[in-house]
Amino acid sequence: MKGDLLNPRTGFRILTVAALAFLALGLALLFPTPPAQAAPAVEKAAVPMAEAQAPHPALQTDVDCLTCHSNPDMQIALPNGDPLRIGIDPEKYAASVHGSRGFVCINCHADITGYPHPEQTAQDRRDYTLQFSESCKTCHEDQYSEMQDGVHMRALQSGNRNAPACADCHDPHYSAASADDQGGSSPIARAEIPQTCGKCHAGIFNDYKNSVHGAGILANNDPNVPTCTDCHGVHSIADPTTAEYRINSPQLCAECHTNAEIMEPYGLSTQVLNTYVADFHGTTVTLFEKQSPDQLTNKPVCYDCHGVHDIRATDDPEKGLQLRGNIRATCEKCHPGSGDNFPDSWLSHYIPSPEKYPLVYYVQLFYQIFIPTVLGGMGVFVLSDIYRRQVINRRKPTPPAEPTPETPAAPQQDSDAKEETHD
Ligand code: HEC
Ligand code: HEC
Ligand code: HEC
Ligand code: HEC
Ligand code: HEC
Ligand code: HEC
Ligand code: HEC
Ligand code: HEC
Ligand code: HEC
Repeated sequence: MKGDLLNPRTGFRILTVAALAFLALGLALLFPTPPAQAAPAVEKAAVPMAEAQAPHPALQTDVDCLTCHSNPDMQIALPNGDPLRIGIDPEKYAASVHGSRGFVCINCHADITGYPHPEQTAQDRRDYTLQFSESCKTCHEDQYSEMQDGVHMRALQSGNRNAPACADCHDPHYSAASADDQGGSSPIARAEIPQTCGKCHAGIFNDYKNSVHGAGILANNDPNVPTCTDCHGVHSIADPTTAEYRINSPQLCAECHTNAEIMEPYGLSTQVLNTYVADFHGTTVTLFEKQSPDQLTNKPVCYDCHGVHDIRATDDPEKGLQLRGNIRATCEKCHPGSGDNFPDSWLSHYIPSPEKYPLVYYVQLFYQIFIPTVLGGMGVFVLSDIYRRQVINRRKPTPPAEPTPETPAAPQQDSDAKEETHD
């Protein structure tokens, strides 16, 4: 327990002003900065801990804090018994994004200005991390407020302590500003993002690791394949289980899959979106999107057929969609008992051509000729029929009505006139 280790004697205050100078000198001589030499590993924190018990009234710089905190083996126990390591590696700290910019410990640990430290209130290790992430807000207002809209902050606020706070993804003491693959600057290298998220989303990480996207980035550091944050965002992660996310997801995939520059090196088709939209499923989803954007569509989006985190190449020998069994199983999720030939009712993403789906191509071509011909023929027929009825048929009845041989010059008017005269 903290109290046992601490043993503060407030009465000592006056004496310690003198003792302090002594101690500081002693410490500096005994423990030069490299922590490994500070104490033999076996004895662990014994020596510095003893020294630490003396009060240090005014601490300003990292050096002040590190006189006690540079031993990597120092640890204390939190009220529930969880250990808390309190050693900080001075060299790694100096190289970090904050240390290298001259930030000192108290920029974040603002409440610690001397020793004894103020009573800390965390009950366990998790509590400790969560409490401290508030300290980032002072300087990183942007990221902090972005997080307010995201799934993680909402989970935290609803009491899920496993959701991440800043310090879960960014080591506050050692994280470096590393150059990204694309030459931009990112504190977490692109290829390390899946592991960062995978610390907590282990099942998804495992699926992703073996997927066509994940293998690319994890094995080859391929900058073109998507990592977790490309599809989910970074600090303001949207809930992916909503209707809105589902309906917009084809657009997400299409961002890369319709981009010829990205797809060219892999020889992949860029027609996957327009063929999808053109088919009966995509058309309904598109319509649906316009009419009721907040309802969950039951038509397939890209990931119903391809999977989400476990997407494989379509010619994957085990899970590829080119295998009949696999594509059939996919259709059957929504068309149960649809049978062996059912997948053929969809042309997949191909635009029919004489090479691919020649039958469909020629049938379409046939219809392209047949339909205009038939419609045109029908039109001609209908028009000639109207003509026949209007002009020719009207002419015929007039003679029998009036058997007299003289035919009138304007039959319509004349016949009316005649009817009147008859009465
Ligand atoms: C005289 C030695 C000494 C100095 C100097 C010192 N600490 Fe500590 N620190 C300790 C000891 C011992 C503990 C273990 C818990 C306790 O006794 O409060 C500790 C615990 C901590 C903890 C973890 C527990 C908590 O209260 O959050 C933090 C964080 C911390 N110190 C930060 C600092 C910072 C920042 C400075 C410099 C401003 C500093 N310390 C200076 C000895 C010291
Ligand atoms: C950028 C902000 C920041 C700076 C600068 C910083 N700390 Fe921390 N520190 C934190 C956060 C956040 C935690 C909680 C992290 C966690 O729970 O893992 C923490 C935790 C600690 C702990 C508890 C054990 C641990 O590692 O979690 C100690 C001890 C500590 N800091 C000492 C220091 C010392 C000494 C310095 C200066 C050399 C320093 N800190 C600089 C933010 C910072
Ligand atoms: C006293 C101000 C201050 C505090 C408090 C602070 N930071 Fe920083 N931080 C900075 C500055 C300044 C930079 C460098 C400028 C930049 O790149 O944004 C930086 C950089 C970073 C970077 C790297 C950014 C990049 O583009 O490479 C990360 C990550 C980061 N901070 C995380 C944290 C976390 C997490 C905390 C809380 C534990 C924290 N910071 C607390 C001032 C601070
Ligand atoms: C779930 C993990 C996660 C959490 C939680 C998280 N970050 Fe980040 N953060 C990242 C990743 C990943 C990047 C890199 C983004 C990139 O390169 O596109 C990043 C980037 C940053 C940057 C660099 C500038 C930027 O916006 O790209 C800063 C600064 C930063 N984070 C601070 C914070 C602070 C402060 C918090 C807490 C309020 C926080 N982060 C919470 C994962 C996280
Ligand atoms: C410290 C652990 C932790 C880390 C690191 C972490 N997450 Fe989470 N994440 C959670 C928890 C806990 C939830 C809430 C789960 C729930 O509500 O079912 C969550 C929820 C999510 C959700 C919403 C899930 C749903 O069903 O609504 C997504 C998406 C997500 N995280 C993505 C990420 C991404 C991307 C990263 C990396 C940038 C990441 N997470 C890093 C713990 C973590
Ligand atoms: C190609 C885009 C894409 C990539 C890359 C991606 N996701 Fe997802 N993720 C999605 C989609 C789409 C959903 C919604 C799936 C659903 O509702 O069935 C989702 C759902 C989730 C969920 C919530 C649902 C669940 O299955 O628990 C979490 C958590 C999540 N992703 C985390 C991650 C993590 C962690 C990574 C990186 C290892 C990652 N995602 C990479 C697109 C992606
Ligand atoms: C950031 C860009 C990007 C995003 C977003 C993206 N992909 Fe990909 N995808 C790629 C790249 C690049 C490849 C080729 C990888 C390789 O072959 O190594 C690929 C490969 C594929 C393959 C395998 C094709 C084959 O047969 O080889 C499928 C299927 C696929 N993606 C589907 C999707 C789906 C579905 C989504 C949306 C949930 C999506 N992709 C989102 C870039 C992306
Ligand atoms: C109804 C199921 C289904 C839907 C919906 C679907 N696909 Fe496909 N997709 C397939 C099948 C089956 C193949 C394999 C076709 C073949 O190679 O014979 C395929 C092939 C692919 C390929 C590989 C293309 C190539 O050149 O080899 C990519 C990339 C792809 N789809 C992405 C997408 C994207 C992006 C979406 C959403 C816009 C989508 N798919 C929607 C079933 C589907
Ligand atoms: C996520 C569920 C889902 C998946 C997966 C799915 N479909 Fe459908 N499909 C539907 C729904 C819902 C409709 C009804 C569309 C409408 O009413 O406009 C439909 C309609 C159809 C139709 C039009 C005829 C009819 O029955 O109304 C065909 C043909 C069809 N699907 C074939 C396929 C094929 C082939 C596959 C596999 C490659 C497949 N579907 C995968 C949900 C799905």
